[in-house]
Amino acid sequence: MSYDTWGPNLTALRDVAAKAFVNAFDAQPELWLAAPGRVNLIGEHTDYNDGFVLPAAIDRHVLMAVSPRDDRQVHLVAADFGARTSFSLDDVVHDKTQRWSEYQRGVAWALQGAGYTLRGMNAVLSSDVPVGSGLSSSAAIEVAMAYAFQLMSDLELDGVERALLCQKAENQFVGMNCGIMDQYIVSLGRRGHALLIDCRSLEYELVPVPDGCDVVICDTKKRRGLVDSEYNRRRQECERGASILGATALRDISVETFVARQNELDEITRMRCRHVITENQRTLDGVAALRDGDVARFGALMNDSHTSLRDDYEVSCHELDLMVEAAQRQPGTLGSRMTGAGFGGCTVSLVRSEHSPAFVTQVAQAYTESTGVVPDVYVCQAEDGVRRLH
Ligand code: GLA
Repeated sequence: MSYDTWGPNLTALRDVAAKAFVNAFDAQPELWLAAPGRVNLIGEHTDYNDGFVLPAAIDRHVLMAVSPRDDRQVHLVAADFGARTSFSLDDVVHDKTQRWSEYQRGVAWALQGAGYTLRGMNAVLSSDVPVGSGLSSSAAIEVAMAYAFQLMSDLELDGVERALLCQKAENQFVGMNCGIMDQYIVSLGRRGHALLIDCRSLEYELVPVPDGCDVVICDTKKRRGLVDSEYNRRRQECERGASILGATALRDISVETFVARQNELDEITRMRCRHVITENQRTLDGVAALRDGDVARFGALMNDSHTSLRDDYEVSCHELDLMVEAAQRQPGTLGSRMTGAGFGGCTVSLVRSEHSPAFVTQVAQAYTESTGVVPDVYVCQAEDGVRRLH
């Protein structure tokens, strides 16, 4: 195991998982794999409107140690909180007493539902993707589990189908009606790049993280509340808007059409539609700006995205707004916004590299002064999606 492929964060997770594996199964694991969390640079709440998103996989992971079994049992250990559960592949049932395992069970259910024959396994998980922070810890667990089944059972499954089946697990087994962005980027992310994903065609383009800039994540430590119910309500409001405007999805409405026809919508629907329609355009404009090397323009679009999420989509919160304002005040900040579903969690900022050390300390200090909470602020690297580690 070389330090280069693992790096310090994964090495720390491996130490925890390796011990837990020997304790639980009295053997060494046969293989290791890791699935990253993600940060979305722009294109928020657009995925379930068939729109565009620009996420990157990050250097925080769910690490899994895995060995095959000869029977149809799946034994799982969560090394970080010392929990253990098992289930049979012949009857994948919910276990509400071990809620953390709903994701893994859901993935087994979805893969088998798609006709794949799975083999039993012993597995240990350890993660440094913070839970409930908007960095997709659940998608990382799902995609790690799907990849573990894939390797153990020799499944021919491409990255897009893997993402779709993990989304199905989350929608239909776990019961969270998310879009495709998180599972897609966790499955297909590329080191040094963000992916412009067309959430209708499910095609993507690689967009390099611009030279001389850092992507900085600031975790407010405010854990998301309300997110499921408000998320579902936003989805319904978008569907209502699309149907009044006679479109399959808000993706099909241009900014010009929206401006011409917005009076047909009630106020709330108009605000929600304005966010999604302008956000789709900002995402495309943002990618064009990056391709032109115009990082200042990209940053300005990130700032506009935050304003739109705060005022029109109403998914920000006081802590996210404070963090974004502190970030936007720093020298070298090109742009800053909330990332993920909202109502707490993290912000993402694009910062000129020479300014990022000062950014990290100054933003943390400003946030602590106004809230009394010490945030987690770190420069992240765009990573590969799920992968086997040797
Ligand atoms: C959550 C969902 C994604 C996406 C974002 C908002 O992360 O899982 O599908 O809708 O919120 O952009």
